[in-house]
Amino acid sequence: MRLYKKEGATVQIISFPNEQVRKGDYLAIEDSKHGDNLIVQVIDMEYANIPGILEELLRNYDGDSSIAGEDVDPFDVAAHIRYIQDARLLICKIRASTHNGKLIPAGSHLPARSYARIRSVSVNELLTRPDGAEGYEIRLGETAEKTHLDVDVRALDGALNIITGKKGTGKSHIAKLLVLSLISHGAPVVIFDLNGEYIGLGQDTEGKPNEFSSKIHVLTPRQNFKVTLEQVKIHVLLNILVNALHLPGTSAREFRRIWHSLEQNGTLTMGELGEAIKNWRCNQHVRDALFSRYYTLLNSRLFTDNPALATSLENALDRARSGGAIVLNLRNESTTNRHIVVEYVLGKLVELLTTRRLRAIFLFAEEAHLYLRETYWDDIVTRMRHFGVFTTFITNQPDTIRENIYRQVDNLFVLNFTNEHDIDPISRAARVDAHTVKSIVRDLLPHHCLVLGKVVNDFPMIVKIKSLDVQAMGQTRLFFPVRICALTP
Ligand SMILES: Nc1ncnc2c1ncn2[C@@H]1O[C@H](COP(=O)(O)OP(=O)(O)O)[C@@H](O)[C@H]1O
Ligand SMILES: [Mg+2]
Repeated sequence: MRLYKKEGATVQIISFPNEQVRKGDYLAIEDSKHGDNLIVQVIDMEYANIPGILEELLRNYDGDSSIAGEDVDPFDVAAHIRYIQDARLLICKIRASTHNGKLIPAGSHLPARSYARIRSVSVNELLTRPDGAEGYEIRLGETAEKTHLDVDVRALDGALNIITGKKGTGKSHIAKLLVLSLISHGAPVVIFDLNGEYIGLGQDTEGKPNEFSSKIHVLTPRQNFKVTLEQVKIHVLLNILVNALHLPGTSAREFRRIWHSLEQNGTLTMGELGEAIKNWRCNQHVRDALFSRYYTLLNSRLFTDNPALATSLENALDRARSGGAIVLNLRNESTTNRHIVVEYVLGKLVELLTTRRLRAIFLFAEEAHLYLRETYWDDIVTRMRHFGVFTTFITNQPDTIRENIYRQVDNLFVLNFTNEHDIDPISRAARVDAHTVKSIVRDLLPHHCLVLGKVVNDFPMIVKIKSLDVQAMGQTRLFFPVRICALTP
């Protein structure tokens, strides 16, 4: 390989046909005189455009029938021409530099073109572990050079993560891998499971309980997840009424009075609430507004007046405190019910975190725009993060996540996307340049993921995600017995 050109943070390298280089590989440009190395990553490959190459290619074309005769090539130039024709230009981005063997995040020096040596760099050279990292590894999968990629689970601590990619590329799979890794390192996890995909985490592929079965706690609204009004605090219920059920402000104030009167009488039940609204002295419009919301709450069947039937999220979280997951199965729930459940759970989490009953929680949210109200997004990435809610958003519609969230993201897991429009929002993430994301993501193979951010020391990596021995559950129901395989998954 030969160093050819440098423009800003982009370096172009000429690679010859006998050299094996893939997109995503890391190379070191070694400047032996100064002891400085530049670490670059191949993000694209082109043909080397040498003057006259087009003429040469056209001249070589010998039609469909080869012409009889002997090629006279006394100086053996054909081989050299072929060599030049097949030379490739590697478009590389500077990721770091090393000075006397120490990694420095930026690279500013310009290596000499005449004597700089270029060699491949293995992943392990880049992801050097700090001392005391033993026992904190999680295996994500393997890299192109077939070495295992182990990352430090602590890079997920306090972090905001996004997993995104086209439908069916393995987003939920990565989320499951992260969930199980966090659990096995003793972390508590809460999952908003939109499609009932995570409920099988406690079972292996054959449906038998696995090592995590005692640590996965599935809560299905109405079946084993009901709450009493007593458990739902007034501010959480008001959030539900105002945000999920759109109760106007004046009626909300009246509701607060009704609540306090019930609380004083010690009769905080759904039954009594209905009676109180009926008999409350107020404007008829307000009463109607309150009644319609009351019936929505009643019909959601998420509330119970019997404390014995109610679920204690506190107790469930206590059990998960030293490693465990609470899966909120939102499958088959109406939009309103999802909102109610999510408001309640988030309210509870903040309460437990502020009272220090819970140290921190890892929250996994699939397609969060379907149940998370607009104002919660910022709240989750700023205020709640401060309390200790560390969120991973999973989506196949990257534009549903706002730009300011991409800017604050610590770790990004990007799977294949073909459409440029889908890649645009992701490429605004502060952790990497747009060119890298666009160029690598469109060529990712199934189960391969571009990992960016803290987990990989800010060295973008292409990883083949390892398989898991758990029930996948995410399969789409089909009409015909056999699925037609598309070219891309
Ligand atoms: N790295 C992987 N190894 C093995 N199977 C995988 C991997 N990634 C995804 N799969 C399988 O591919 C299918 C689709 O993955 P899934 O995570 O549900 O996709 P998505 O959430 O992006 O729609 C699932 O059956 C899953 O088990
Ligand atoms: Mg999925």
